[in-house]
Amino acid sequence: MTHQAPPRPAVSRRSAGLSGHVRVPGDKSISHRSFMFGGLAAGETRISGLLEGEDVMRTGEAMKAMGAVIGKEGDEWVIRGTGNGALLEPIAPLDFGNAGTGSRLTMGLVGAYDMETTFIGDASLSKRPMGRVLDPLRQMGVQVVKAAEGDRMPITLHGPKATAPIVYRVPMASAQVKSAVLLAGLNTPGVTTVVEPVMTRDHTEKMLRGFGAELEIETDQEGARHIRLQGQGKLTGRAIVVPGDPSSAAFPLVAALIVPGSDIIIENVLMNPTRTGLITTLLEMGASIEFLNGRDAGGEDVADLRVMHSELRGVTVPAERAPSMIDEYPVLAMAAAFAEGQTLMQGLDELRVKESDRLAAVARGLEGNGVDCTEGKDFLAVRGRPGGKGLGGSGGERAVATHLDHRIAMSFLVLGLAAEKPVTVDDANMIATSFPEFMGLMRDLGAEIG
Ligand code: S3P
Repeated sequence: MTHQAPPRPAVSRRSAGLSGHVRVPGDKSISHRSFMFGGLAAGETRISGLLEGEDVMRTGEAMKAMGAVIGKEGDEWVIRGTGNGALLEPIAPLDFGNAGTGSRLTMGLVGAYDMETTFIGDASLSKRPMGRVLDPLRQMGVQVVKAAEGDRMPITLHGPKATAPIVYRVPMASAQVKSAVLLAGLNTPGVTTVVEPVMTRDHTEKMLRGFGAELEIETDQEGARHIRLQGQGKLTGRAIVVPGDPSSAAFPLVAALIVPGSDIIIENVLMNPTRTGLITTLLEMGASIEFLNGRDAGGEDVADLRVMHSELRGVTVPAERAPSMIDEYPVLAMAAAFAEGQTLMQGLDELRVKESDRLAAVARGLEGNGVDCTEGKDFLAVRGRPGGKGLGGSGGERAVATHLDHRIAMSFLVLGLAAEKPVTVDDANMIATSFPEFMGLMRDLGAEIG
């Protein structure tokens, strides 16, 4: 298990209207994949706009440990990759810290190599289920040499001489599982097929094509996507522009909606439809969000968002929308705490296996701050109090427990900006995994947070 810094509590207070222009850091999903695919492809990859959060840096370190050369020139990251099929055996365990995406995708990537690789992580990552990735890898012939109980880290993998191509129907809506199987397919002879009944973020498919992989996608009559990857092809380095992360933009966005008098612009936000479920939901709740300057950035749609304080109403968020806003439920729950009536979020079973059990963490934190809510097995209902009277007040011993989860910390700090009483979270360290600039950026907008 990796070393943990001592907890650093943080507090936020009711703030005057937020204002100004901000730029959120690069998208985490695309940043991880940029380091991985750039590290694997032959020749040079140049990345601008990369998220320099701890999670992504761990992926960079792992790729370096397997032979990629990674450095920075000015604002650009420059990578010389090994070439597909030519990763080296790492001499020490790969330490992924808090990062589920980095570790799960890399398990797929290296599982198909005839070498031994060990994966370790922090207390949160060591509790997360890895069987969802190990199961298809086992079907491809990968040996799980060691794993803690319940297929958890530390995990040691050893690939066979040649992995077998499989057809794998992903049993849960997970871009990580889809991606892990496709990445194993990169070093597998023949065609590896992933069937995805419910579409999840498509960054792996789009980016692999950009690097030159042969990949076909077909949607069947039931709406399932069949993704076929030709193994052992050539991948070639390229230039990548990483757009702003909609999952990070979600925090200033919700803050501006709930703090009276706010009017802000968030620039350069990724608008890929597999990622915009939160915006769809907030618009249904009556949010004032304008899309300015829509444009293409390196093959992805981006826009600047103008967000103004809004009187929100509760809505029902259907289970089908979950994959397109899976990381945004904690902060949506904060918006719901200020909405008129009830917001019902359905289909949340996957929230239980994120950096923390987010369904329970959100419900306990809301209760501790006077918000009326009900936690079900796979749903959350929040009954709001427009104006925020009586809300907040978690402090000292009763600070919100963040369970090493960056999004729980940021969500509750957003709640405190509009609640009557301050909100304290027990640890803000983990925010650096995905959004190191969060505190400074929020303060630049006028938020009382620190
Ligand atoms: C991610 C997929 C999602 C998401 C995570 C990033 C990715 O996880 O929660 O933050 O980059 O593929 P699941 O695949 O487990 O849903």
